Amino acid sequence: AMIALRQMLDHAAEHGYGVPAFNVNNLEQIQAIMEAAQETDSPVILQASAGARKYAGEPYLRHMILAAVEAHPDLPVVLHQDHGATPAVCLQSIRSGFSSVMMDGSLREDGQTPASYEYNVEVTRRVSDMAHAVGVSVEGELGCLGSLETGEAGEEDGVGAKGKLTHDMLLTDPVQAQDFVAQTRIDALAIAIGTSHGAYKFTRQPTGETLAIDRIAAIHARVPNTHLVMHGSSSVPQEWLAIIRSHGGQIKETWGVPVEEIQRGIRNGVRKVNIDTDIRLAMSGAMRQSMALHPAEFDPRKAFLAAKLAARGICKARFEAFGCAGQA
Ligand code: G3H
Ligand code: 13P
Ligand code: NA
Ligand code: ZN
Repeated sequence: AMIALRQMLDHAAEHGYGVPAFNVNNLEQIQAIMEAAQETDSPVILQASAGARKYAGEPYLRHMILAAVEAHPDLPVVLHQDHGATPAVCLQSIRSGFSSVMMDGSLREDGQTPASYEYNVEVTRRVSDMAHAVGVSVEGELGCLGSLETGEAGEEDGVGAKGKLTHDMLLTDPVQAQDFVAQTRIDALAIAIGTSHGAYKFTRQPTGETLAIDRIAAIHARVPNTHLVMHGSSSVPQEWLAIIRSHGGQIKETWGVPVEEIQRGIRNGVRKVNIDTDIRLAMSGAMRQSMALHPAEFDPRKAFLAAKLAARGICKARFEAFGCAGQA
């Protein structure tokens, strides 16, 4: 059944686990996540970005997700809107049946320029008022995602702040988080602790010092009833990079967030873990590999099936690693 994010993450907090929130754009991604959840008996968060709605079209996306809920009647599912740029976008998603919306007021409407704190409070509070009136949960964001090492927001293709960010923008301030939550009454708070979107997060393999894990505990202590969200949580599996490269793909040297660091995050209060890039890497690697292995094949279902199975493997591993398995 479809449930609100608040309900799902309250359970996760009570039982000390984290829930991966996977981005979805098409049938095979949705099926991969649902099959992995069914196999491991895990709660599910499916999230759609503005890009996903543009790609699939809102009615297709909505009906595919309703189909997933119908096909898996025993699994709780949250349908979450990822990175809403304006209250209007959030209102559209509420109207189209999402059970949770993110108002990302850390950036201006262009989705690139860091916004003032006052702007963030104002737009997020407006979304909270609208969403809560109809039982929909709200995620806000405070701070800007980006590498603590380089100040780069990461991602060349359009997600997040552009250019260099200063060190205090890159780390969510716990005292400000407390004020933000008090003023906006959000259910979940996305925090900046050194992760960034996309495949190019770190130029070296991260150590235990790469992310500000201590910051998570400090924020959690200030906002104990608001569930913390870690964006940019793909691990960028080196195995999939190798498969992509050995089949002609061009991916530069790069590292993601180690699963062990996410597990530390969960122990310190993270409850929602956003993952998009890992599924993209696994699916594109599997499609390249399938087409190379079966050059005479022209039924696209062969490559799509390989892609689905690859995505399912990623999802299953994350459900298990984050403590979701058996919690549905
Ligand atoms: O946070 C961004 C997600 O990875 C979605 O990316 O806008 O390309 O769909 P997208
Ligand atoms: P990744 O690019 O690390 O998968 O992060 C996705 C995300 O944060 C979506 O909101
Ligand atoms: Na989100
Ligand atoms: Zn994100």
